[in-house]
Amino acid sequence: EEIASLTIVLPYNDVDALKEAFERYGQDIACVIVEPVAGNMGTVLPKDGFLQALREITKQYSSLLIFDEVITNFRVSKGGAQELYSIEPDITCMGKVLGGGMPLGAYGGKREIMEKVAPEGPVYQAGTLSGNPMAMVAGIATLSELFEKNPYEYLDEITQTLCEGISKILKDKGIPHTINRVASMLTVFFTDQEVSDYRTAKSSDLGLFAKFFRALLKEGVLIPPSQFEAWFLSTAHTKEDIEQALNRIERAVSSI
Ligand SMILES: Cc1ncc(COP(=O)(O)O)c(C=O)c1O
Repeated sequence: EEIASLTIVLPYNDVDALKEAFERYGQDIACVIVEPVAGNMGTVLPKDGFLQALREITKQYSSLLIFDEVITNFRVSKGGAQELYSIEPDITCMGKVLGGGMPLGAYGGKREIMEKVAPEGPVYQAGTLSGNPMAMVAGIATLSELFEKNPYEYLDEITQTLCEGISKILKDKGIPHTINRVASMLTVFFTDQEVSDYRTAKSSDLGLFAKFFRALLKEGVLIPPSQFEAWFLSTAHTKEDIEQALNRIERAVSSI
């Protein structure tokens, strides 16, 4: 409760709300933490200027900008969302793809910040599994493979095919929808509104999502079980998989 009471929650993509919060509390704001592409209300992309505004205002008030790239690191591009949108945060949190399926998280940042961490500095940070050799080796193997094979163009292509296919199926059935996508992450929302924050994400027809999920499961296609989670494609997905998925999605949509 104490931590929550010291945290300000703002709507995503809302530069006015951001400015207002800083005008009011600016001197006391230690940091802003944000998913540079949101994945936890479904996929929501930063609007033009949103990440720039975050960077500028945090700099102006000497507050840190922390990017939570746990989902987006090595996924939306080799250098994550910060590379894709050319914004440099002060600290980055990483996970998921980083460990290639093993439990691995990491954070990093500017030298003057990292020097505050023990043994260089006074901030103690350690954990039983920190630097766990098996997770580290898996992470290095994943990243080596990823950088060698450079699958980003391929992932972009198959994800685009999937999104266009789903959009066509839903359009043909007259079902209002918005598909948000960047690289290999996406979300299908059942709404005719642009989805740019949690409020608009919630405009999706959740009853229809539930029916869609169950009909797809029956067809052997497993999507995330919540409207507010992102779908991901991986290098294991072939073009044939996408074609087959689209056939099954069409059957599933017809059945509902
Ligand atoms: C964007 C993002 N940040 C952080 C986390 C939390 O990571 P952990 O489960 O390692 O605490 C998640 C987990 O799904 C996430 O999606």
